[in-house]
Amino acid sequence: MTYLINRLWPLSIVGCLIPFLWLIFDITFDNLGSNPIQELHIRLGDWSLRFLWITLAITPIQTITKWRGMTDYRQLFGLCAFFYATLHVLGYLLVDHYFQWRIIGIDILESSYIWFGIIAYFITLLLALSSPKWAKKRLGKTWKKLHRFIYIAACAAIMHYFWQLKGNLADPLFYLLVIFILLGFRGLVWLKDRQLAQLMLPKSTK
Ligand code: HEM
Repeated sequence: MTYLINRLWPLSIVGCLIPFLWLIFDITFDNLGSNPIQELHIRLGDWSLRFLWITLAITPIQTITKWRGMTDYRQLFGLCAFFYATLHVLGYLLVDHYFQWRIIGIDILESSYIWFGIIAYFITLLLALSSPKWAKKRLGKTWKKLHRFIYIAACAAIMHYFWQLKGNLADPLFYLLVIFILLGFRGLVWLKDRQLAQLMLPKSTK
């Protein structure tokens, strides 16, 4: 099993890059439809969100399968979520606004959905910066607590998605449902661990 999963590593890296290469291909051959800038935002934003919830799904999979070798995959998918989010933000800053900071400032003040995007982005940035092994070692127990913020990032990203949507709510509702299921799973594991820990506490002597 470990052998197979290790073999999957290079394939996973290629898989993570496919949406990016696909986008480059479509930009090169002018395949982005009638509103290419919007299509660019949508694709990058959607892929960032997809990688966020793939990252979130790793811990439940690890708990169910008891396979410990998935930590590297969690890091890879988390970094991909950050990578696509960074391109998405760069698209907004450069393609939409040509780095005109005054206009960007006004737009951010007027568009509340962007605030949620910024919250989500800063959390993913923090998580990406603290993801290397040396950072994990240095941060000790704080690392785990910090990385739980990924749930807040995912919720903020979904709020950002909801808020800017003009029509069909089905997609963000689906993402929200997935996050609730994953959070529910974490909650159940936490409750089970707490009950086990209480059972193992030495009984007080009267
Ligand atoms: C982790 C951070 C972020 C994630 C996961 C994310 C994700 C998304 C998603 C899923 C959409 C909707 C795409 C669709 O309609 O299918 C979207 C739209 C958008 N996002 Fe973000 N976003 C993030 C951060 C940001 C930030 C920081 C900004 C700007 C500073 C931003 C600017 C936009 C804009 C302008 C749109 C609207 C695109 C349009 O329909 O014209 N996003 N984002």
